[in-house]
Amino acid sequence: MDSPVLFAFLVLFFTMFLQPIRALQYPQELDTEVYPDLADLFTSPTASAPEPGGFSVSLTPTSPPPPPPLVPALFVIGDSSVDCGTNNFLGTFARADRLPYGRDFDTHRPTGRFCNGRIPVDYLALRLGLPFVPSYLGQMGSVEGMSLGVNYASAGAGIIFSSGSELGQHISFAQQIQQVTDTTQLFILSMGEDAAAKLISNSIFYISIGTNDYIHYYLRNVSNVQSLYVPWSFNQFLAQTMKQEIKNLYHSNVRRVVVMGLAPIGCAPYYLWQYESKDGECVKMINDMILEFNFVIRHTVEELNQELIDANVIFCDVFEGSMDIIKNHDLYGFNVTTDACCGLGMYRGWIMCISPEMACINASNHIWWDQFHPTDAVNAVLADNVWSGLHTEMCHPMNLQAMLAQQAR
Ligand SMILES: *[C@@H]1O[C@H](CO)[C@@H](O)[C@H](O)[C@H]1NC(C)=O
Ligand SMILES: *[C@@H]1O[C@H](CO)[C@@H](O)[C@H](O)[C@H]1NC(C)=O
Ligand SMILES: *[C@@H]1O[C@H](CO)[C@@H](O)[C@H](O)[C@H]1NC(C)=O
Repeated sequence: MDSPVLFAFLVLFFTMFLQPIRALQYPQELDTEVYPDLADLFTSPTASAPEPGGFSVSLTPTSPPPPPPLVPALFVIGDSSVDCGTNNFLGTFARADRLPYGRDFDTHRPTGRFCNGRIPVDYLALRLGLPFVPSYLGQMGSVEGMSLGVNYASAGAGIIFSSGSELGQHISFAQQIQQVTDTTQLFILSMGEDAAAKLISNSIFYISIGTNDYIHYYLRNVSNVQSLYVPWSFNQFLAQTMKQEIKNLYHSNVRRVVVMGLAPIGCAPYYLWQYESKDGECVKMINDMILEFNFVIRHTVEELNQELIDANVIFCDVFEGSMDIIKNHDLYGFNVTTDACCGLGMYRGWIMCISPEMACINASNHIWWDQFHPTDAVNAVLADNVWSGLHTEMCHPMNLQAMLAQQAR
């Protein structure tokens, strides 16, 4: 491990243990404080209905009831691109439970999201008419807490079981799929087989994983992997694993799947720093591997649509959408395209974001929030693209809105 990284880990290590560990008291706060939308959604239908013998005051008597959700639930599988608090429960360096993380989120508090504000699945939940999806570990097996969806994503996780394990604990891809199976079994026990199958098959499963297989495995040459596999065969291996796991989901009655491609991490501040980029030029070698991964996964998704009857799997190419943002940053309102908002050193990519003093004042004109993760503003654009291709048609063979329209017929 090179010494700056070691230094960053030491700083993080001490800040972690100087602060009280709050993992276990977290669940009780979830629905009222961290997820005000969730609380609203559960209380608003009853708030205006008069209670027998009680006195009910409706605060907003003229506002119409919220439209019904477009799908029963949203389930999220992945890594730090969509983790919303899983790692708060684990022993790991990959945590986002301290400010400045979350400073621009709805609650202005850290939640475990690796962002200043919302992650793409937050924006998509709102599009679907659902509350923000809570973390699976925060629900502790409560069916009511999970019936509108849960988020299994864990920062540091990869498609390969041991990717990211130098950071500490995480829930790997295969373990997350197992947690989905556990969830569906709980649904069957509580609502019966038919109702559970209906809920699962009409819900959206959003998968965003694979970048740590490069960041924490291939690029670090773990177990001599670079000598054993050229990037192309490494890609094939990842794609076959992804395919098998989606088939496993299919056997649990999952039918609607969004598979996210990987972002251009060759442009991330960490690699601009590590490869001593001139003028913020992206690291081509890394982006070429990501392009190949996306190409192979897109083909895998086509195969799945042919092999799995009634399944509707879409592939959304985050690389395409992100490169459009980087190239046309002026049109999107970003004038800082290479430097992270939070971090230290060249491109603010040397030392990870661990304290509010390390952050810029206004993240919304930045593309990158920290060494590896985009800002809330970028996540909003990417989510709009997944939903309707608003800025870039990055989903194939169709976007999410079209998928729902097609199946509603
Ligand atoms: C990867 O690691 C192995 C053994 O640790 C080494 O022999 C090989 O040269 C490394 N490959 C690269 C490209 O660094
Ligand atoms: C970006 O724009 C903001 C305000 O619009 C300005 O304060 C800042 O200096 C600009 N940054 C760069 C790197 O151009
Ligand atoms: C932050 O930057 C955005 C985009 O340039 C701008 O619209 C917004 O007003 C700024 N906010 C503050 C608090 O300066």
